[in-house]
Amino acid sequence: MSNNCSNFRQRSTAGCKWLYNRLMTWLIITLFTFLTAGLAYWLLVTTEGVFLGRRVVVWLYDLTAHRYDGVKEFSPEDERILVTNPVLVAVQGVDRPLVLDVATGTGRVVYDLLQAEAFTGTVIGLDASWPMLAVAKRKLQAYGQGQQTLLQGVAGRLPFGGDAFDLVTCLEALEFFPRQEEALREMVRVLRPGSALLVTRRTGHEGRFFLHRYRSEAQFVALLGRVGLTNIRIFNWEVGYDLAIGWKGTAGAAAVDSAAGLVYNGQEES
Ligand SMILES: C[S@@+](CC[C@H](N)C(=O)[O-])C[C@H]1O[C@@H](n2cnc3c(N)ncnc32)[C@H](O)[C@@H]1O
Repeated sequence: MSNNCSNFRQRSTAGCKWLYNRLMTWLIITLFTFLTAGLAYWLLVTTEGVFLGRRVVVWLYDLTAHRYDGVKEFSPEDERILVTNPVLVAVQGVDRPLVLDVATGTGRVVYDLLQAEAFTGTVIGLDASWPMLAVAKRKLQAYGQGQQTLLQGVAGRLPFGGDAFDLVTCLEALEFFPRQEEALREMVRVLRPGSALLVTRRTGHEGRFFLHRYRSEAQFVALLGRVGLTNIRIFNWEVGYDLAIGWKGTAGAAAVDSAAGLVYNGQEES
């Protein structure tokens, strides 16, 4: 009888151990799967490949180009306030301005400007993703062909001579560039002295997911100053972004004054 009992105890202890080991194995596998999926999500979705290098960022845009405009749902009224008006203010007084939009994506700035009667200049949209540019090309074929050019290229090596543009814009893209300061220096290089750069800064918790690539407002102003911009001002812009304006060298007082109302979307300047 006591022999039977001790066999039973030994067997049930062995059974418990087996169950415990199985549970621990599954727990570790589940934890590992969650961590890997979380890391992959952060690397590929939240920060859009930025920690994996430029080619991955551009590849992700290549893959999703056909869905980009649908996801963004640009509204004409918002675009007028957030894009067209600031550009028109920044090139005020310039006859037939030449504008460069760096990382134009599906041609947002080009499209908005070509629809504005008040815009009499020419706009060049540059992007590294060919599929994004292909969407832009389809959207823009009905608009002023003589007023627009789309180019494939990278922000860190702009294929233009110095002092060429009356305005450079770079919206919702700087955080994706591998060397942001170098890209900004390129944008300033191609600006005509006295002309402005309009560039966005990622803000809020989404911005902080970019870790050391995130810049506070003060750090962003300091960065823009380092690359040679003056009279820098920052405005609340879209959800998750600020819009900064700065001039190459000294800007006319009138230009700086008119930029005070650069973005009015019912929000106070930050
Ligand atoms: C969020 S989209 C912004 C597009 C557009 N500016 C807008 O506001 O809709 C970012 C764009 O940056 C482009 N891009 C990313 N890294 C780039 C680089 N190093 N040089 C040029 N374009 C780049 C991507 O291909 C993509 O079209």
